[in-house]
Amino acid sequence: MEEKEWKIKVSIVPECELPADERALVEAARAAALQAYAPYSEFRVGAAVLLENDVTVTGNNQENAAYPSGMCAERIALFYAGAQYPSVPVKALAVAAWQNQAFVERISPCGGCRQVLLETEMRSGKPVRILLAGKNEVTVISRAADMLPFGFGSFRT
Ligand code: THU
Repeated sequence: MEEKEWKIKVSIVPECELPADERALVEAARAAALQAYAPYSEFRVGAAVLLENDVTVTGNNQENAAYPSGMCAERIALFYAGAQYPSVPVKALAVAAWQNQAFVERISPCGGCRQVLLETEMRSGKPVRILLAGKNEVTVISRAADMLPFGFGSFRT
């Protein structure tokens, strides 16, 4: 029998210690969250994607009375980036959420969004940094592959 282990590194960084472009990305995710259309869950999520050409695109969750027809903030931002800038690598993605009149301490992308993040990274061959906004601290994962070990199409040995 052979056993394997995957280790991932997660850094908890005081927001003020992030580089200026990443601080701005976290702020953009927070601003996007406030504009979400989430009348059913009342859980507003915002995502902001920083592209290698320094363009930032944002997305937020869009819900629908036919529940499965809605979409997460992260995928809306990533698909918009892919639609508008198909050949520009994604450098980073920030996520923030708002509930009960306040930003939540931290949320982490769902499985479906992780799969899309992973493919975004594999497509360009460049790491996508993931920034999960808290109130004063940001959780940083240095590449999308670390968020989905053993994901479909990414069997790292
Ligand atoms: N949601 C996101 O937008 N991103 C996530 O990573 C998790 C969940 C949305 C989907 C739904 O509109 C609401 O949050 C509650 O699940």
